[in-house]
Amino acid sequence: MSALTDYEGMLAAIKMGDEPPAEEPARQQWYMKKAGELVKEKSLSLGRPLRAMVKTFGCQMNERDSEKLRGILDAAGYELTEEEEADFVIYNTCTVRENANLKVYGRLGYLGGLKKKNPDMVIALCGCMMQEPEVVEKIRRSYSFVDLIFGTHNIYKFAELLVTALENDRMILDIWKDTDKIVEELPASRTYAFKSGVNIMFGCNNFCSYCIVPYVRGRERSRRPEDIIREIEGLVKDGVVEVMLLGQNVNSYGKNLPEPVTFARLLKQVEEIPGLERIRFMTSHPKDLSDELIEVMAESKKICPHLHLPLQSGSSRILKIMNRRYTKEQYLALTEKMREKMPDISLTTDIIVGFPGETEEDFQETLDVVRKVRYDSAFTFIYSRRTGTPAAVMENQVPEDVVKDRFDRLLALVQQIGKERSARFLGQTLPVLVEQVNSQDASLVTGRLASNLVVHFPGDASLIGKTVDVTLEECRGFYYMGYRAR
Ligand code: SAH
Ligand code: SF4
Ligand code: F3S
Repeated sequence: MSALTDYEGMLAAIKMGDEPPAEEPARQQWYMKKAGELVKEKSLSLGRPLRAMVKTFGCQMNERDSEKLRGILDAAGYELTEEEEADFVIYNTCTVRENANLKVYGRLGYLGGLKKKNPDMVIALCGCMMQEPEVVEKIRRSYSFVDLIFGTHNIYKFAELLVTALENDRMILDIWKDTDKIVEELPASRTYAFKSGVNIMFGCNNFCSYCIVPYVRGRERSRRPEDIIREIEGLVKDGVVEVMLLGQNVNSYGKNLPEPVTFARLLKQVEEIPGLERIRFMTSHPKDLSDELIEVMAESKKICPHLHLPLQSGSSRILKIMNRRYTKEQYLALTEKMREKMPDISLTTDIIVGFPGETEEDFQETLDVVRKVRYDSAFTFIYSRRTGTPAAVMENQVPEDVVKDRFDRLLALVQQIGKERSARFLGQTLPVLVEQVNSQDASLVTGRLASNLVVHFPGDASLIGKTVDVTLEECRGFYYMGYRAR
């Protein structure tokens, strides 16, 4: 984890008056210091440091939020751990599909057992699941040992909520329906020293008919370009060479700013930051992907030649009911244009199988797009009914055995094509950004090509965060074995 030295200095300078300041981020900084005092007191009385763990479910947006939670816990003086045997445990939850939800309930039972052994333990829940009233009701009823619950809109207030939870024995609940607020300048503790996610926008306005994200993440809000650039410049100074710009639909970035900016223009500004080597982004919605973006990507030295472009379904009929606002033909035309301008680009996607009313013919259209586009990889999902979304009340839900059969056929095709595509760099020497020592063989390191493919090659920890040329000697399905070029 990266250090937070700047933040320690800043907190040391804060004067603790009787009342916390009203404005942000000063108010949260005041509460971080207050939390620090409480943690220190407790730690002295126990005669050991206090430990905290943050567990993330869900997407990269949640991963990034968790880094911010860790930043605040670190600033408050907790030792961060990966284990649930800790003094403060927070689950940052996801509800995009039902199984994400079930996992959290499963783990909660286990946490309750731990709390019996350590009655001082504080258990907190936050994230997308907590924006659903029936979830919160269930937790209040069946998991009353939970100390703190908050949602996605007030996560910036975590320091304040932490202090309230530490000072009170009752369950603290604070959930907002929506917000238009973006609070800048709060700390984050990164999982990797050399790469980082950067939020460029929050929320989603698209309301795809199967999807719960707009209901739990609220309306689309973009950060100002100058705030994004300042954050990335700070990250680069701190050793970051790769950023992943994050949003549910990055292609509509900046449309609602007082001075509108396009995503392509933002990318050009990010590209100019000296010392930054690689730029990635996710997720792109096909309906908003502009020619300007394709141009900027094609000309760029830093934007990785990789586009994650969720298809969801290959059937124009289903796409319409999904409210995706593009047709099969428009999607195919887009990918052809991308391949024309960037022949080597990696294309990846998300596909849902078993959306209400999906017929075998509709499914065949999806297989047809997969064969035509030839994705490098694809995330395939079984449709999951989410309460409150339009699709959940559609009548013709597809039987489970039919969905399972389609899912298996799709997966087999996606994997076969993915393997063939992955092998296309065999024998070439390409730059690899080293991420870690190989978890199975300590004589190897593991890194990624610009296309996002994984490469293992002989090396040691001194290479982590460095970009080195590697000859790709052998392709094993979805990854390469290689050796360092001289
Ligand atoms: N904003 C992104 C995706 C966010 S959710 C986009 O529009 O592409 C990530 C993926 O989860 C989606 O692309 C979709 O394939 C899948 N997903 C969302 N809701 C789902 C549901 N109800 N059932 C199954 N998969 C779902
Ligand atoms: Fe969900 Fe659609 Fe928004 Fe993506 S664009 S988060 S799939 S509603
Ligand atoms: Fe899940 Fe929320 Fe992300 S529902 S996919 S964690 S935005």
